[in-house]
Amino acid sequence: VAKDSSNILKFYKITQNEGINEMAIDVSRESTVSITVVGASGDLAKKKIFPALFALYYEGCLPKHFTIYGYARSKMTTEQLRTTVCQTLTCRIDQSESCGEIIEEFLDRCFYHSGHYNVEEDFAELDKALQQQEVGGRVANRLFYLSIPPDVFVDVVRCASKCASSLKGWMRMIVEKPFGRDLESSAELTRDLKQYLSEEQIFRIDHYLGKELVEDLSVLRFSNLIFEPLWSRQYIRNVQILFSEDFGTEGRGGYFDNYGIIRDIMQNHLLQILALFAMEPPVSMNAEDIRNEKVKVLRSMRPLQLEDVVVGQYKSHVKGGIKYPGYTDDKTVPSNSITPTFAAAALFIDNARWDGVPFLMKAGKALHNRRAEVRVQFRHVPGNLFKRSFGMDLDQATNELVIRVQPDEAIYLKINNKVPGLGMRLDHINLNLLYADRYSREIPDAYERLLLDAIEGERRLFIRSDELDAAWSIFTPLLKALEVRRVAPELYPYGSRGPTGAHYLAAKYHVRWG
Ligand code: NDP
Ligand code: BG6
Repeated sequence: VAKDSSNILKFYKITQNEGINEMAIDVSRESTVSITVVGASGDLAKKKIFPALFALYYEGCLPKHFTIYGYARSKMTTEQLRTTVCQTLTCRIDQSESCGEIIEEFLDRCFYHSGHYNVEEDFAELDKALQQQEVGGRVANRLFYLSIPPDVFVDVVRCASKCASSLKGWMRMIVEKPFGRDLESSAELTRDLKQYLSEEQIFRIDHYLGKELVEDLSVLRFSNLIFEPLWSRQYIRNVQILFSEDFGTEGRGGYFDNYGIIRDIMQNHLLQILALFAMEPPVSMNAEDIRNEKVKVLRSMRPLQLEDVVVGQYKSHVKGGIKYPGYTDDKTVPSNSITPTFAAAALFIDNARWDGVPFLMKAGKALHNRRAEVRVQFRHVPGNLFKRSFGMDLDQATNELVIRVQPDEAIYLKINNKVPGLGMRLDHINLNLLYADRYSREIPDAYERLLLDAIEGERRLFIRSDELDAAWSIFTPLLKALEVRRVAPELYPYGSRGPTGAHYLAAKYHVRWG
């Protein structure tokens, strides 16, 4: 399958005698795609999904015959949905004068249908409405985006799949996290979903996999001669995967208190980055080849131990005359909650490549800055000629590769360099690729990339069920131990660098946080 210059998918038949023949099937003409955003009245739909769909439309990436349906229990007319959605749309890619017109064209393709999540008759009504758009004898394909709380996932999947029994095209479901709370509940969710869907139809989304620099990890590793040979315990001292936000759980305390930072960020977003970073080279960039390698590396990881984890929770703090609230000041959070809003952990991969290398993760809310980064600290240069003589401790000033996922996407390598001039002084400086300086094009939002992939049936950036099992196996014993022992989080002030315990954890493995 390939795309031609007009962005139309074409199929090519490869035969032994004839070589490659275009089969002349232009799917954008032959089929329709209906995208139903289930939970369209919610926060994620408004903030991310509709804007991403519009950005794809604006860029000419959506198929020619597409329709978007919002579905939720809230009573709303199509006009009201369009008005709400309109407020979130911007033509950020190109501020051309035709922007308003393009928004209007897009909104004309958006509809709303109100219904319950567990009532088949309501989905039968939706089905009728979808069929009215799926005309012209074309193959009808359907994508559902489940942007709803997890306790109604299975109801929706049951109702939507039963009502689509006569569907000729494909039906796919994008499922949002959380995928359970632990290994058992996640396996149960998978079992329940698979009563109605095949694994190929389930697109478990982790939006970090749609971020530009996370996708770039494989390119960096596998298409540059200089990195892959260094990618092992032989040259790498430790790897740090860091996430911080400079705001608290504002508005999402109810959800968050049931999950905590380890389930919210570490078990999914950070672990996915780790798997892509540490996996063996896949046979190809094909989805199954990549996911096979991710599963292998995840299964080589040791389950996390309590002694390798530090948990924290932010408390209120007054700065510049402003009082920043503590986590338990949120009315939706119980006042005696011990849910961690911060965690640091040391993980290990027991395979030949990574034996003994600490992979340190740190994730926290209400910290002093917002960032997501991978930091790779290399070993010291053996027998370094410049070790003592020039005023710098080169055991400390080792090379470090930083992949800054956000904000201000960048890749930089810390090296030692001679300060120009007479004499010999060394400087520890950055070889810097700052995306904003090098690439003028705005980076697409992660949801754009992932929605487009789901429409095109590309599964590379979605989580397979065995990957999910392997990921939960690493974290479940720890999560249970934290709960059973009611481990009290170390309090840290809103806007600080987090609990000091994180520094002791790093020191235990001779690591300094980057
Ligand atoms: P919301 O809480 O806003 O819920 C979405 C919609 O679901 C609501 O508008 C509501 O629609 C319906 N709903 C809410 N609570 C219930 C309930 N108890 N029973 C049945 N229906 C309910 O969620 P978000 O939009 O924030 O998130 C949607 C999904 O995406 C969730 O699974 C969330 O974990 C996940 N997610 C969200 C992120 C975010 O930034 N918001 C980030 C990553 C993942 P109505 O009442 O009209 O039916
Ligand atoms: C979500 C978490 O998955 O990711 C949120 O539930 C978090 O708690 C968010 O704020 C961070 O995403 P991003 O893309 O803003 O870094």
